[in-house]
Amino acid sequence: MPYLKMIRQAALGAAVCAALLQAPLFPAAVRAAEPPLQQEITDTADTTAAAAEETPAVIDHSAEYKPVVNEFLKEGEGRPASETVPKTVPKYTGEDRKAENELLKLNKNYAKEKTAARKARAAAEKERAEIREKKQASRTTYSLTLDTDKYQQQTLQVNGSAVTFRAYEGLPYAARPYAPEYQKLNLYVPDAYFHGGSVNGYTAETAPIFMPNNVGGYMPGDAATPSETSRHGGANAVLRALSRGCVVAAPAIRGRTLQDANGYYVGKAPALIVDYKAAVRYVRLLRDKGLLPAGDTDRIVASGTSAGGALAALLGATGNSRDYQGYLKDIGAAKERDDIFAVQAYCPITNLDNADMAYEWMFNGIPMADKKPVRELPSGASSDGKIQLPPEAGGVVKPLTEQQRKASAKLKESFATYLNDLNLKDGKGNILNVATDGSGLFKEYIEGKYIEAAQAALDNGTRLGNPDWLTVSGSKVVFMDTVKYANAVKRLKSVPAFDSFDLSSGENSEFGDAETDRRHFTWYSLVESGELNLPDPDTEKAEDEKAALAWRLAEVKPQERLALRKAQIEKEKKQEALPTFQHVATPQVIKMMNPMYYIGTPDAGTAPYWRIRHGVLDRDTALAVPAILALKLENEGARVDFQAVWGYGHDGDYDLDQLFDWIDASIQDQENKKDVPVASQKRI
Ligand code: DHB
Repeated sequence: MPYLKMIRQAALGAAVCAALLQAPLFPAAVRAAEPPLQQEITDTADTTAAAAEETPAVIDHSAEYKPVVNEFLKEGEGRPASETVPKTVPKYTGEDRKAENELLKLNKNYAKEKTAARKARAAAEKERAEIREKKQASRTTYSLTLDTDKYQQQTLQVNGSAVTFRAYEGLPYAARPYAPEYQKLNLYVPDAYFHGGSVNGYTAETAPIFMPNNVGGYMPGDAATPSETSRHGGANAVLRALSRGCVVAAPAIRGRTLQDANGYYVGKAPALIVDYKAAVRYVRLLRDKGLLPAGDTDRIVASGTSAGGALAALLGATGNSRDYQGYLKDIGAAKERDDIFAVQAYCPITNLDNADMAYEWMFNGIPMADKKPVRELPSGASSDGKIQLPPEAGGVVKPLTEQQRKASAKLKESFATYLNDLNLKDGKGNILNVATDGSGLFKEYIEGKYIEAAQAALDNGTRLGNPDWLTVSGSKVVFMDTVKYANAVKRLKSVPAFDSFDLSSGENSEFGDAETDRRHFTWYSLVESGELNLPDPDTEKAEDEKAALAWRLAEVKPQERLALRKAQIEKEKKQEALPTFQHVATPQVIKMMNPMYYIGTPDAGTAPYWRIRHGVLDRDTALAVPAILALKLENEGARVDFQAVWGYGHDGDYDLDQLFDWIDASIQDQENKKDVPVASQKRI
């Protein structure tokens, strides 16, 4: 659901919940039927007389409208006699008196109970506030500095060439961290820069600063080091960056499962992005103070994969935004800028509050498969990744349940509203819309991305196999069928893919808070999960009317009134026990985790250069998600290199040579176009 709609809905929901929790359940006229709390009933005759007097006067229009009324009753539409308040007051019995007194007691006790509960809630909140305060006071303070003598000289090999650098490790980037073991970074500087030398054409003054993060699954991420082998073999991104003349600042970052000694969660959203920003600010501080001897702080490049790719994108989209200032101040981040130059986002699991709709747009009704579509190499083939069979997911294939199918259809339909509101344009200025059935120019754009990926692979000598979702004519890939594609690769995730009804997804845990492990982050899943049991407004109105009538009828029957009041209290108690907004992240936090709300806005500086990659076999999020990000960035003036990549699934760092070529080219591009405004580069 689009964000604004969500907020609107959330506001409506809040109003509904507030009404449910605080407001009396029945209109005043109806409640007047309850006995006043303080009035002790002693004389039945007086009470009934008073009750009769309180009955509002009825203006009798029967003379004027007799013909009409008669007509009305003739059709059987008139109020049945059983629903009219009896004119004669029945005699009070001893049973009635007992019921009246019981009702009085019930109301008194309930009022007391409510007061006690209110007091208990206030006391618990006070206690929590005290614990929070103590926790704050006990946080260790670190100084944001760098001991320039404390380093290790290291030499490692990249493709047979020695790379020598100084390593400064475990540097706290937040003065008041919640998780000191994570809120620190590793800094690596090519040795040449200490001797007036240059690497790859860069000097100490001009070297880009590469800031990779190791976050995956929104879990805590360690600080990267150059010595770990890349999962694709050979030197990893840190070491390659050093070999290409970059200074590297690799932060560890808090994640969703971290808890402090008191059991409070300290890495829930937006902790991850707050840490990344604090790390950027710390690097700028060191450079400003003359402690860091190399690196151009106007050339900071963030990089990450999956949740880490999403974080890199978020960092690139939210430069210096005031939304994060309070959080940054709280952890004692340096007072510096946090906008960056460029972003490398591999398969970013981003735009989380809209990703469910995008997923169903792509995988509507498709069964789940627990085995990935893999690049299978025919026996004897070299493992250079250039020979592939058509990707087919396998293992246990589970069709969707009826409920999942319905949710899938609904989310797919909502995707059209979300996407069309964005008004995204392609390079030629065509608006990329979709219809509710999923068709439209946006679909063609996505198909084009798969076709481009296949074409690039083909041009590179890769045999595509013979996937039934691609049409190749001669040496040209000419057609792609998204439905056949989805049927071949199948879905990885359930419905909804991200905001699970049962709160079981990693993203549900990402959107928890200090005291809550898991929460929703879309209005759709919150409501559909049934946790709130929000009444449908029409049903509620009808129920209110029915209840009002029941109270009117019971006005002179204490025993019925007692029964009604008991039911009413039970309902109120149930509603009071509803967790309501403990079960959904606040709109502000949801916003702070989604780059889409910041790109091109005056509040944030958007990085001018972006490289976004998404494997053709990736089913962790729909290609539509990074595509929407890329289009939005392009439409706002950023330079974006966005491609789907043949043969890869949910993966990153598989094309590091090209990544660093692109960084060089981006720097060159900016040098050439120094005065051309690209994306917004707001400064604080
Ligand atoms: C990652 C993968 C996911 O499928 C997801 O929902 C979140 C994160 C990851 O690999 O980081």
